[in-house]
Amino acid sequence: MDGADGVDGADGADDGPWWKRAVFYQIYPRSFADGDGDGTGDLGGIRAHLADLAWLGVDALWISPFYPSPMVDFGYDVSDYCSVDPLFGTIEEFDALVDEAHRLGLRVVVDWVPNHTSDRHPWFVDAASGRGSRHRDWYVWRDPGPLGGPPNNWVSAFDPSAPAWTYDRTTGQWYLHLFTPSQPDLNWDEPRVVAAMHDVLRFWLDRGVDGIRADVVHCIGKDPALPDDPPEVAGVPHAVLNDEAVTHDRLRSIRRLVDAYPGDRMMVGEVYLLSTEAVATYYGEGDELHLAFNFPPLLAPWWEPSWRRCVEDTMDAVAGRGAWPTWVLSNHDNPRHRTRYDSNAARHGEDAATRARRSEARARAAAVLLLTLPGTPFLYQGEELGLTDATIPPGRELDPGGRDGCRAPIPWDATPDHGWPRASAPDGPWLPFPPEPGTRNHATQRADPGSLLHLYRRIIALRRQVATLSTGGFAWAESPPGVLAFHRRSRENDCFVLVNFTGEAATVAPAGDDDPAGNWASWKVGVASHGEGEGEGAPYDGTLAPDGAVVLLRPRP
Ligand code: GLC
Repeated sequence: MDGADGVDGADGADDGPWWKRAVFYQIYPRSFADGDGDGTGDLGGIRAHLADLAWLGVDALWISPFYPSPMVDFGYDVSDYCSVDPLFGTIEEFDALVDEAHRLGLRVVVDWVPNHTSDRHPWFVDAASGRGSRHRDWYVWRDPGPLGGPPNNWVSAFDPSAPAWTYDRTTGQWYLHLFTPSQPDLNWDEPRVVAAMHDVLRFWLDRGVDGIRADVVHCIGKDPALPDDPPEVAGVPHAVLNDEAVTHDRLRSIRRLVDAYPGDRMMVGEVYLLSTEAVATYYGEGDELHLAFNFPPLLAPWWEPSWRRCVEDTMDAVAGRGAWPTWVLSNHDNPRHRTRYDSNAARHGEDAATRARRSEARARAAAVLLLTLPGTPFLYQGEELGLTDATIPPGRELDPGGRDGCRAPIPWDATPDHGWPRASAPDGPWLPFPPEPGTRNHATQRADPGSLLHLYRRIIALRRQVATLSTGGFAWAESPPGVLAFHRRSRENDCFVLVNFTGEAATVAPAGDDDPAGNWASWKVGVASHGEGEGEGAPYDGTLAPDGAVVLLRPRP
């Protein structure tokens, strides 16, 4: 990173396709909102709250799977790609949801699970019925290994003590599943699989969705020899090691399919490789994924050197090759970031009282950082309320991957039901609510201009108003230890972002190469994480609150 503007240096709202300026919001449909009172969220619930999302100001919704599924992996085990599970609603309700979202200016992105189906998908049921079946080659079957065991040493993602293979007695062969045994891997070397999965994309794009989120898409190409993983990574799920050249060919043809549709349709891929450089290759030469998730920041502690490293790696590897970065703090697969930051602070000796005081301030500063870094930010439902993970009572755990805590239902208001009608659900929602639902709910925070919800809304509004914050260039500025400071610049505007990772106030002047130290009177506070709106619009006084973050603005001299 040489400090030069890494992303586009131009300003103006018309800069590039919509997904470069958009703020995405991930909806996990089981837990977002319950439209029919059965205790599980659904499409009707999403539709009923679209206006709340438009109020928040996000641009695009990514909706996790709502397709027919036995729900072993809560919808990531699909048994029919082109339909809606009755639990969530109907295809007509989906169409109505898209129409209404579009009317409100919200784009809709749906999840596509190309690596595996459910074992109850008719393709697999047929494949498992006999070696000569029509769909046999749609999956990855192998004879037993030399000792009669699994064909290689790959382990499955949620249980690294178990092989990524299951023996099928009927046909005497093993089938591959990088995830649970209920999720057999499709064989993308079989042209009929490619054609069928392309048809699935067309089905949703024809219905008017604006984009696709491609689940573990780096796994669709595998070394046909299926060699053992080397001993130094024994026990590491193969899904995080799989990185094959053939996948790039497959992505190029998928990209052509998506780009053939009008209106800048897009695809964001989940490439769960832990090296940013490896992930960046899945953008190809601008001819593979439009966007790829960037996971190191989602795993990083709230610690300035870690974040500096994440930003530098991303700018080098992604922006450095002319691709567009993404940023994410939380999703449905990992503990929520507030939970992670709190437990990390506890591990480093922070006492409970200090943690209680600093926890929300850290979440506020993180929101400022997420929404001002160069690239496209993805929010996960409920982070705008500062939710932490629910505590799941023993015996109520449901997810094979231990991810229930971050999937708890969103509290919508302060009533005992928190907006989840219980009439026909005597046990309440499918998972318990997260902590403090009496205050960490949408209605209570919406009524309080000082809430975290309002802070998210103000930053998103500022991004709309000042395009520089989404499409402007990036350059580091000098800062004291524990503080990140960077510019986002266009021809018209200079935005200066300061994020204090420490519990002490810091003095930071907005010095830059074209601006001598101490000259901060010309900078206005655009957003202050602590300010409850106060101080915004006023000149910056040079002091950054403990755990505070600010966005300063001024026209370019
Ligand atoms: C992705 C999804 C996750 C799912 C897995 C298998 O990582 O985000 O929820 O369990 O793929 O489909």
